[in-house]
Order: sequence, then C-alpha cells, then structure tokens
Amino acid sequence: MKDDIIFSPFQIKNFTLRNRLGVAPMTRMSSPGDSIPRQDVLDFLVRRAENGAAIVYTEAIVTDYESSQGYPGQARLTTQRQIDAWRQVVDKIHAHGGLAIMQMFHCGRMAWPEVNPAGRAIAPSRLAPKQLNPLTGQPYPLPEVMSQFDIDHVINGFVETAKGAVLAGFDGIEVHGAHGYLISQFLSTYSNQRDDNYGGSVENRFRFAREVTESVALVVPEDRLLIFRISNWGVADAQVSLFANAAEWQEMIGLLVRMPIDVISLSTYNFRDKAFGTDRTMAQLTREVTPLPMMICGQIHDRKSAEEALESADIALSSKSMLLNPNWVEDVRAGKTLPLYKSDDANIAYSKEPLP
Ligand SMILES: Cc1cc2nc3c(=O)[nH]c(=O)nc-3n(C[C@H](O)[C@H](O)[C@H](O)COP(=O)(O)O)c2cc1C
Repeated sequence: MKDDIIFSPFQIKNFTLRNRLGVAPMTRMSSPGDSIPRQDVLDFLVRRAENGAAIVYTEAIVTDYESSQGYPGQARLTTQRQIDAWRQVVDKIHAHGGLAIMQMFHCGRMAWPEVNPAGRAIAPSRLAPKQLNPLTGQPYPLPEVMSQFDIDHVINGFVETAKGAVLAGFDGIEVHGAHGYLISQFLSTYSNQRDDNYGGSVENRFRFAREVTESVALVVPEDRLLIFRISNWGVADAQVSLFANAAEWQEMIGLLVRMPIDVISLSTYNFRDKAFGTDRTMAQLTREVTPLPMMICGQIHDRKSAEEALESADIALSSKSMLLNPNWVEDVRAGKTLPLYKSDDANIAYSKEPLP
C-alpha cells in the first residue's frame, strides 16, 4: 500500500507534527475592547486540535495600538491579560496534541483608521488600493509615507507581540508577509515606489521584511519556530500579480531563506495553479530555490487535493474547510467526498453565533 503521506509525521527542529494538516490563520473580528477574542472563537481553535489538526494558527494578531489594525475587533498580544488568555488556549491545543502558532500582522495601507486608536494609515508609499474597502463600501484612505521613525516603531510592535507569544507558550511565531498587508506592500512594486533604501531593487524592497524578521528572531528562543507567510496576491486589487515574474519571485524567496526562519508558508488561491505563465506551481517554483520546510494553502479541501499539494510541500493548511467542518481532519482520513467551499461560505466566521 502507498504510504499515507497526509498522516505521516513530520519533523521540524525539535517538533514532531503528528500529520501534515493545519488550520490556516483566520481573522475573526471578535475582540473589541480588550483585544482578546470571544471565548467561543478561542474554543473553536482548541476543537480543531482535538479533531487532529497538527498545527493550529491564531487569527492575524495586530502588532501595535496605533496603525496596525485594519479590521474591527482584531486581537492583540502585548498585555498580560492578553497573554494569559492565549496561554490557556495554547495549553489546551497542546493537551490535544497540536502545535500552536501565532500569526502577527500590520495592515499598512489596508487601513480603516477609525478602528485604530491613533487613526493613522501608513504604508511604504502614498498609494491606496484601487478597490473600495468591501466592509465599509468606502475608498481606502490615502496612507502617509512611513518615515524611518515609523519603520522602527512598527518593527518594535512586531517584536513586542512576538515576546507576548513566547510568554503565552506558542510553539511558533509567524510574520505575515502575504496578502497585500504592510510587509507584502514593501515587497511589491505595486505598492512600493520608494526611492530610498526600502524601495527599488528586490533587495531594497525586502529590507523591511528582513529587519522585521531579524528583530523578531532575537526574541524567539531556539526551541520555537519562526515562520514567514508570503503570497503573490493581495486581498485588495486581488487580480494583481504582486511580483513581476518567476525570476523576481525566486530572487525574493532566495533572500527570504537567508533569514533565520524555519518554515515558509505559501498562500495561493489554488495550489494547483501554474504561476507566472510557467508550467510550474508556486510551490514548485519555491521548492526550486529552497529545501526549507514549506506549508501550502489554497483550495485544499479533501484527501486527493491534500495528497497532491503535499507532492511539492510539507504541510497542507486549510482555511475554509477547517472553518466550516469541525470534523475535517477525520473526514480527510476517511477519504470522504468533501465540498470545496466558496468565499461567501466563510462569512460565517464573523457571525456572533459560536461555530461548531
Ligand atoms: C474567514 C477568513 C479569515 C482569514 N484571515 C486570515 C488571516 O488572518 N491571516 C492570513 O494570513 N490569512 C487569512 N485568511 C486566508 C486563509 O488563511 C487562506 O490563505 C485562504 O482562505 C485560502 O485557503 P482555503 O482555500 O483553504 O480557504 C483568511 C481566510 C478566511 C476565509
């Protein structure tokens, strides 16, 4: 019989994952006030570990109290109360045999200044996304160009949040460099038109990501994982390819893998799509330039798709299937026929009702 790749263990540093399936990061907007998610939102994560997920990601946690928040009710991880709340979740995920990973992000120009205590919108360049903010129906604000002070301040927010995650016991910490949010905005010429040493060449556009990652690495102990998520697409102006071609993508990945990271997390619309007009997928193009452990996400919804995704990556993350099907891991194991959920199906993430 063919080896069951999905349910074979995988070793990353000192961690043995029990299988290759994980819960992708999912923002839930349930944390108004004290920036601690609603209890049922936290319990949802624990139940996914109970169902067998090897990895459970938090939602994108915002990195400061000033300009990082792009959606109402996002969570933070810098006060003792927030740390204590997450500590309980991490302990329960561990008790069910899962690894807990905290994802942190800054929205940059994907801003909604009213939900930020300081009401600011900052970005590499003074360029707003072209589309309207789907949640407000209004244009995104024209952002202020980040000064060196802003850059240093924002990096500090990532560092403080990573410290909070370490104290809460998370096994891994992810820098969200995907989906057209702040770090991704620096990486792409679509949003970065700076003429200082943070813009222009691939190396310059990577500089902010490098400074964030290197600064965060200093506070992440050797026995935890540091992960970087990257994509070629953004949540706004989603049709735009953030990188020009396969060569630019591979050059960027080449810089990324020189960072003190343990895993790359690759986010795609559909893991099967051929990338940049080549005959290879994003995962294959990435694999060509690095042997680093790799997670892949994008329309992995059943046993067949997970098996196929794992031919060019090590860990398969699912968002919508994990969100909507509390028994997804076991259903995959059983090889059940499972639906491919649509984006609209995921709106349930923002309901006030507890999810199963
Ligand atoms: C409700 C919802 C919230 C999401 N929030 C985040 C997030 O906070 N951080 C992130 O990196 N991706 C986020 N995503 C994107 C997912 O992690 C994933 O990349 C995407 O949904 C594709 O995976 P899927 O085809 O398995 O749903 C979100 C997706 C959904 C549906």
